[in-house]
Amino acid sequence: MYVKSVKIINFRNYKDEIFNFNKNINIIYGNNAQGKTNLLESIYFLALGKSHRSLNDKDLIKNGENECKVAADTIIKNLSTSMEIKIINNRKLYKIDNNNIKSLNEYLSNLKVIIFFPEDLDIIKTSPDVRRRYLNIQISQLNKNYFKILNEYNKLLKIRNDLLKKYLKDGYLDNQYFDIITNYLIEKACYIYCMRDKYIEKINKLIDKYYESISTYKKLHINYITNVDISNYDNVKNNMVEKFNKLKQAELSSGITLIGPQKDDFEFILDDKNLKNYGSQGQQRMAVLALKLTEIEIFTKESEDTPILLLDDVFSELDDYKKNNLLNLLDENIQTIITTTDLNNIDKKILDKANLIEIEDGKCITRGE
Ligand SMILES: Nc1ncnc2c1ncn2[C@@H]1O[C@H](COP(=O)(O)OP(=O)(O)OP(=O)(O)O)[C@@H](O)[C@H]1O
Ligand SMILES: [Mg+2]
Repeated sequence: MYVKSVKIINFRNYKDEIFNFNKNINIIYGNNAQGKTNLLESIYFLALGKSHRSLNDKDLIKNGENECKVAADTIIKNLSTSMEIKIINNRKLYKIDNNNIKSLNEYLSNLKVIIFFPEDLDIIKTSPDVRRRYLNIQISQLNKNYFKILNEYNKLLKIRNDLLKKYLKDGYLDNQYFDIITNYLIEKACYIYCMRDKYIEKINKLIDKYYESISTYKKLHINYITNVDISNYDNVKNNMVEKFNKLKQAELSSGITLIGPQKDDFEFILDDKNLKNYGSQGQQRMAVLALKLTEIEIFTKESEDTPILLLDDVFSELDDYKKNNLLNLLDENIQTIITTTDLNNIDKKILDKANLIEIEDGKCITRGE
């Protein structure tokens, strides 16, 4: 799949701009703070209905404006498809081929993106919620049902936690209702565990190969950490029921649900050592790159179409050897949109065939294709 053109209105520092892309390599260049990352962010936002770097949608609207819009002509599975997303009055409105789409759930998983950006190391370094968010976004792009069930799970979890909190406050628990909610919650949790486990298993089959292709061979795998035994899918439900029974007193006195996918985490293990504590910065970066390259292969296979690659400033952070390895891996059949402040960072062979777009102060000053 690829984006042919994108129109951006009142998004970040853009007033009203159109960009045209080719279906191979596109390079966005310009000085710092001109709008390169904002342009990539607009495509990410168009695909996923959220930003990769801001949890608050309001940040996306141009200062002083009330609404913003990103619209694009795309080719998905060889079909022309127009996509549009707007933020108005704190709400997001979605359109595909000019038809209103009621929910993000329906809108998602059309345009698929894999993004590489400087904050990627956070996936290894920071807190579990960042890793869970990452996993949720990736699986949701491939599986609409996952996103739906995850939302249902989160709603049930909130109800359950509210009931536990209410008990803490006034000593009353509607046991029958609490059990019904717990049963529903367990059902959704089993599905989420299973999907996350399967996705990580797919990654683990391929990630070594990609780590080797950008660095040297090392055993690398991702370890999925759950607080329920999920080694046998058929037993997950019983394991959860048992654990909830054991934990009932602890949950009543803490006022919060103590087990479930909301506590999940995953870690990167390189040659039997946890990369978070033992890995060098370079090894951590290579592991995340290997993860993304693996995901390109998984996305391509599962959706029978290539995802769009967004590379934000990644070349400035890699040494020449790794830069070349990465460049060689970039498949000409995958639309790639790269940002850089310095065209010298990019191999001449790539520059010759790329579509170059220069940006200055939220304006496209050298128009591409
Ligand atoms: N909501 C907004 N309204 C107006 N301007 C914004 C908004 N959000 C961010 N900006 C501005 O957009 C500008 C460009 O940001 P962007 O991150 O795209 O720069 P960049 O070209 O990627 O720079 P760098 O090379 O440093 O990464 C910044 O000056 C920032 O202050
Ligand atoms: Mg930037």
